[in-house]
Amino acid sequence: MLPGGALNLVELQEAARERLPAITYDYYASGAHDEHTLRENEAAWARVHLHYRVLVDVSARDLSTTVLGTRVSMPILVAPTAFHRLACPDGELATARAASRARTVMCLSSLSNTGVEDVCAVSGGPVWFQLYVYRDRAATEALVARAEAAGASALVLTVDAPLLGRRERDVRNRFHLPDGLRVENLTAAGHGDVALRSGESGLAAYFAEKLDPSLTWKDVAWLRSVTRVPLLVKGIVRPDDARRAIDHGASGVVVSNHGGRQLDGSPATAAVLAPIANAVQGRIEVLIDGGVRRGTDVLKALSLGARAVLIGRPILWGLAVAGEDGALAVLETLRHELDHAMALAGCARVSDATHDLVSSA
Ligand code: GLV
Repeated sequence: MLPGGALNLVELQEAARERLPAITYDYYASGAHDEHTLRENEAAWARVHLHYRVLVDVSARDLSTTVLGTRVSMPILVAPTAFHRLACPDGELATARAASRARTVMCLSSLSNTGVEDVCAVSGGPVWFQLYVYRDRAATEALVARAEAAGASALVLTVDAPLLGRRERDVRNRFHLPDGLRVENLTAAGHGDVALRSGESGLAAYFAEKLDPSLTWKDVAWLRSVTRVPLLVKGIVRPDDARRAIDHGASGVVVSNHGGRQLDGSPATAAVLAPIANAVQGRIEVLIDGGVRRGTDVLKALSLGARAVLIGRPILWGLAVAGEDGALAVLETLRHELDHAMALAGCARVSDATHDLVSSA
């Protein structure tokens, strides 16, 4: 089902690596500094064990659920990742079509190569909008209004990036966008270019100049006041921060360390999910990303307290190998693997993935 002869998402990454220019592959694949957290995100899922139930009727299985009140065909959503036109010519349009064919949510990055209006227009399904807060507050507020007007049904505020993590592969490659590609959503406001910089990552320089490192919880309340759609706070690894998100009006949190791309040495998301879900006590929804590569990882996440998982890099690998169909194949592979894992674990519905199903080594 996966393109490029791949049997699983790890093999798909290899097929994508063979096709992409090194500057793009490294940008997508890399983590901060020594990439400890990048590796830990994947490794930590393997340390969670599934205590399957036997002799349960699993002849009919239902993977559907809701996220923030929206029905989705499975608890697997598309995470916000930047610059999809580096992976394939249709970029975020291909991703949006794939997500809507899979009947799930696409979360569009602020840093997309396609404007939010165009993405919402081609998507037949729900689109959420990931937001970075710029020093230029007027541009940020205008972007929120544009996303809402285009039809984005939730805002996902990234809070783990006052500065960009130092990704040494990007420094070495002097990562920048090629001619013709821009941060499309911010072009009108004069923040569209991610240019070549000598001796550094052009994106790190872009963040340092343009993003607001003074952001605090007060700004979360501000953002709440300028939008009508639900707000998710993304980048949480601590129970007390999850509680603060509730206090500041969030409808949910995304347990995330930005795919190991920000603070190296931060914990794997799989390791902090249960305490966060426990602190939140069902008052808001808890989503998670980071290192999810198998349906069994999804089942583990649900059992540890997540409402749904978000998939980042594998979608990029799918786009790189086979465009829209490749991204769809990633989602369908995970759907198939989750369905299989649920059957073997004695779960007919996602609500059967309860905490007693898992233990951590
Ligand atoms: C952008 O958000 C990145 O992590 O590169």
